[in-house]
Amino acid sequence: MIRPHSSFRHPTSGETRTAAHERLVGIDTRGIVRAIELAVIVPTYNERNNVPRLVGLLAESLGDIRWEVVFVDDDSPDGTADAVRALGRSDPRVRCVQRIGRRGLAGACIEGFLATSAPFLAVMDADLQHDERILRPMFEHLRKEGLDVVVGSRYVAGGGVGEWDASRTRASRWATKLAHLVCRQPVSDPMSGFFVFRREIFDDTVHRLSGVGFKILLDLLASSPKPLRIAEWPYEFRARTEGRSKFDNRAIGEFLYLLLEKSVGRWIPTRFIVFSAVGALGVLVHMTVLSGLYAGGLTSFVAAQTTATLVAMTFNYWLNNNTTYRDRRRTGWRWFTGLLGFCLACGIGAVANVGIATFLFDRHSTTWILSGLAGIVVGAVWNYAVTSVFTWSDEKK
Ligand code: GDD
Ligand code: MN
Repeated sequence: MIRPHSSFRHPTSGETRTAAHERLVGIDTRGIVRAIELAVIVPTYNERNNVPRLVGLLAESLGDIRWEVVFVDDDSPDGTADAVRALGRSDPRVRCVQRIGRRGLAGACIEGFLATSAPFLAVMDADLQHDERILRPMFEHLRKEGLDVVVGSRYVAGGGVGEWDASRTRASRWATKLAHLVCRQPVSDPMSGFFVFRREIFDDTVHRLSGVGFKILLDLLASSPKPLRIAEWPYEFRARTEGRSKFDNRAIGEFLYLLLEKSVGRWIPTRFIVFSAVGALGVLVHMTVLSGLYAGGLTSFVAAQTTATLVAMTFNYWLNNNTTYRDRRRTGWRWFTGLLGFCLACGIGAVANVGIATFLFDRHSTTWILSGLAGIVVGAVWNYAVTSVFTWSDEKK
């Protein structure tokens, strides 16, 4: 075995190792491999052109810290993963985790944390909007002060949201207020996507994380079983020069889902809450169709009620398929078979609903309001339980 030492000469190529190369592969002058201290996890979706620039900037600002960067790419059509691996072939600090058939910033970060052994973890975006120059001071502050998390913050003195327009700025402020309701940790920017923390914090929370949506820091903070020692470091959010933001309505929906999961979700399954909310909207759709057809004098009551029921069930199926069960969404032919199964399940649910309500009302002289509500709860739980198993089972078909 050839043991690396400072006068190392490659047996075939005859190359000698330069100091730069030693630093790159993490072998010090005594031939001892130095372990990674800090892993920077970077979620990517269509960021091909930003990858080499970010690696260059990280190398410059992290200097002699032993670091690696793990890009977690969701199979971007622009070939981001290939760009990462091309860099990784000449620089072992650059690593790629490519996920197939999945999307989501928070979930990508979690897989990045799991893919590294580093004792300190950082998260930052690939698009250069986060100021890499403060990564090193944040990391050093964390270690020196024995903190759990140091957050790059837009909302402490010296920080800012840069060129965001008024509506995104306002939305972010509101979202931050909502986030504080579930976060339970003293931090002014829990929505930040830029932070450094100790691996143990992740290990303590990993089984409680939601992994839904855009907000991995909020997920970590709200899931932590203990109060965390946190500091914030100001930075100015920069403008994107390459590629486009993936922040959209879906990200907003996923944020609301995370809020539910981290509040009432402790007692009631979040999917059931969303499923019930969809059901409540279905009642509105039903009444709208019914009034349009019957009160509008277009059809008989029976025809109007039947049409309204079918429209409302299809609406509920469609909306559940796109929200509650977006991750298990049925498409193509399976969309139609799913609709049939859904209508069948809900039909039985309706019979159970009416049966229970009538039983309580007739036999136990329960008030009509309570009987009606009990019927609705039984019907909703039935519909949820049956469709979660048969319509949207989580086995891949
Ligand atoms: N793997 C993966 N999967 N990465 C994703 C996905 C996804 O589905 N969606 C977005 N990303 C990556 C982007 O490629 C980028 O590197 C990073 O996540 C942030 O996405 P942007 O689309 O640029 O988000 P933003 O600029 O609107 O918001 C960011 O900054 C805010 C302030 O710190 C996010 O980090 C927010 O969470 C954060 O609040
Ligand atoms: Mn961005």
